[in-house]
Amino acid sequence: MTGLPRKAIHPAQGGGQDVFYPWNGAVPRPLIVRAKGITMWDEDGRDYIDLSSGPVVSNIGHGSEVVADAMARQAKTVDFAYCSHARSQPNIDLTARIAALAGPGFERVCLSSGGSEAIECAVKFLRQYAVVMGEPQRRKIITCNPSYHGATMLTLAMSGDDDIAPYLDGMALAALKVPSPVSYRLPANHTATTYARHCVEALEQMIRKEGADTILAFFIEPVGGLATGCNVPPPEYFRQIREICTKAGIALVFDEVLCGTGRTGTFLAAHNWPDALPDLVVMAKGLGSGYTPLGATLIPARMADTLAASAGFAFIHTYTANPISCATALAVLDEYERLDILRNTKKMGAYLREKLEGLKAHSSVVGDIRGLGLVMALEVVTDKATKGQFPPEVSPVDLLKLAGLRNGLLVYGRRTAHGRNGDWIMVCPPMIITRAECDELMRRLSAMVADFEAETRRMGLVSGTAGA
Ligand SMILES: Cc1ncc(COP(=O)(O)O)c(C=O)c1O
Repeated sequence: MTGLPRKAIHPAQGGGQDVFYPWNGAVPRPLIVRAKGITMWDEDGRDYIDLSSGPVVSNIGHGSEVVADAMARQAKTVDFAYCSHARSQPNIDLTARIAALAGPGFERVCLSSGGSEAIECAVKFLRQYAVVMGEPQRRKIITCNPSYHGATMLTLAMSGDDDIAPYLDGMALAALKVPSPVSYRLPANHTATTYARHCVEALEQMIRKEGADTILAFFIEPVGGLATGCNVPPPEYFRQIREICTKAGIALVFDEVLCGTGRTGTFLAAHNWPDALPDLVVMAKGLGSGYTPLGATLIPARMADTLAASAGFAFIHTYTANPISCATALAVLDEYERLDILRNTKKMGAYLREKLEGLKAHSSVVGDIRGLGLVMALEVVTDKATKGQFPPEVSPVDLLKLAGLRNGLLVYGRRTAHGRNGDWIMVCPPMIITRAECDELMRRLSAMVADFEAETRRMGLVSGTAGA
């Protein structure tokens, strides 16, 4: 079956969550009725490869009977035990499991219900810790621009996105911003390495200007999410920011909501730079793998136990550490082990990367492929030689999503900053993907890119050639 899925009809009452989203959205959202492995089916029987695992969530793929059974078993045994007045075994087992996988320095695991909440948890913990340690003046947060740290008011204010500033004005205090160490769209006379050094210097200057002892934390995405399209800074960057934060007594926090839980081929993305480990790590998305909403903030025992022994850290939402979510995540991690998912991620990541580089070489609109393991992005340009950008009034991401739907791909992408930083989509399939599935994914992706190129050429937007 070809063509596009049906457009949503909004009923007088209720409707799907998308009734809140822009009504003029040009990209229809298929009604998904079945999902298995890397594939999803809509109401008309069309199949789509889940190119980006939803928003980089469905790490173990869809329809796992092992996980479904574990969820049902837990619901029948102990469905709920409120963490403020009862303990549950899945909670105890899950924190031990995550801490063991994360390694020394991440002994305590504070659970939450998603990425934004887990980031807020990190801020709340660090702030309370600073007060208890006699440093109440530490309240400023530094983040990168561009970056994304969540959708609550605080985490939006932490995110590096100039377009949201008007909504936040007077509502939430924006974090201090330093430039992201991006690797593709570099200012004149910079290489990725010299620009990363420039970003480190900007951090040093910011700390000097604001006063080291007023700053609580520096939050970064070690591998970028949607805001930078899977940007990976050079290794020296990590070593240098680690040194600066240690010297200034500032907590270094890795936001691994998107790139953690094995996406890069190691359990934590931080494990890729073992000599520059952060103080705290924030995880979510893949931890519940789409089966349950779950976030986690990883904290060293020396800090967590100090706070617990004094004021305490009462991070309690109604559903915090609920047994069904914990049992679900344990089953997800069992699947990681049974299916050797980290090894597969490294292997299939390398295989897909090679194929994507091949696509880039033969296409005149694919300007860059970047990322690590199975967290990659594909950036489109109007001209490869000049890294030409699409005009503000045309959203290439929407055109790519439409071409994806026509070619059997569900694509995660959203134009950020009106395309000022470039336009990309996420290539992050479920980490159970096989070589044959990678080949089918590439067949559909190549057709999608060819469609996109033909359409943007017809619109007079694309001028470059493949070789450039
Ligand atoms: C890097 C990063 N941080 C935080 C978040 C927020 O997570 P959530 O949507 O689960 O609240 C996201 C979500 O996309 C993310 O990619």
